[in-house]
Amino acid sequence: MSADDILHVINTARSFKEISTRPIKKVPTLRGKTIVNFFFEPSTRTRLSFEIAAKRMSADTFNISASTSSATKGETLIDTARNLQAMHPDIIILRHSSSGAPLLLTKNVEASIINAGDGTNEHPSQGLLDIMTILEKKGSLEGLKIAIVGDIAHSRVAGSDIIGFNKLGARVFLSGPATFMPSGVEQLGVTVCRDVRDAVEDADVVMALRIQKERQNDPLIPSLREYARFYGINNSRLALAKDDVIVMHPGPINRGVEMNPDVADGSRSVILDQVTNGVAVRMALLYLVNGGDKADEEQGGKG
Ligand code: NCD
Repeated sequence: MSADDILHVINTARSFKEISTRPIKKVPTLRGKTIVNFFFEPSTRTRLSFEIAAKRMSADTFNISASTSSATKGETLIDTARNLQAMHPDIIILRHSSSGAPLLLTKNVEASIINAGDGTNEHPSQGLLDIMTILEKKGSLEGLKIAIVGDIAHSRVAGSDIIGFNKLGARVFLSGPATFMPSGVEQLGVTVCRDVRDAVEDADVVMALRIQKERQNDPLIPSLREYARFYGINNSRLALAKDDVIVMHPGPINRGVEMNPDVADGSRSVILDQVTNGVAVRMALLYLVNGGDKADEEQGGKG
């Protein structure tokens, strides 16, 4: 996506955000459309957020998870997807432990595919909601110092955030143990800091990421206690950042590990704003993927 594409999704999301505050939270925009939430990995926020977004736009939604699908009986992802396609869904939202799984599906089914997180690769809708939240609080990303601290190598959130933040002109600083830092990550135009204080100092945004234990075969850090001591975001570290710093986390938080509870629940935290914006961004994505702009031009309005 270009910077313009990103801003277009976010502007669309802004226009949808108000729907979630109405007494009757429903518009007819996606009436008659079939949306399948196909989640091969655990999820609370992303899955519910996509489902709420779809329902608020009057789509029919269906959920399948790995444990209740025929994946447990040995069916391949492509076979399952082709069978889903035979039931004519309009959009399939896929979360999968393999990087590239959503791209594979786009080549094998007609329905539009939305990536809800693929392995260690990307989590585009999270990247977009993070950008929307920063724009809401800061007005622009141009020139901002954004610190991302934690398990960069295994985090698909970092994958999407680094690309998006860079495209909108932010300066991205990464910090975490060497075993959590992808080799050559500097080529993405980021600065890697051995000492977390260098990343957090004068930052406008501090984001902490969860240690993705489920994506690590062997332990990559000596202990969680040591990790928290060197990299955990606590109030004394946060004091190094700008006075108006905002604190972000994609969730789920491991309190006391990557972030202390008083920071997560403190006045600088925008963690729940991220969740609220997630619904609006996903409404925008569903609308645009379904040809929203085109339909608008033809019908003259969002309805
Ligand atoms: C993230 C994910 O699944 O990649 N969660 C989310 O979607 N909000 C981050 C994580 O699991 O740590």
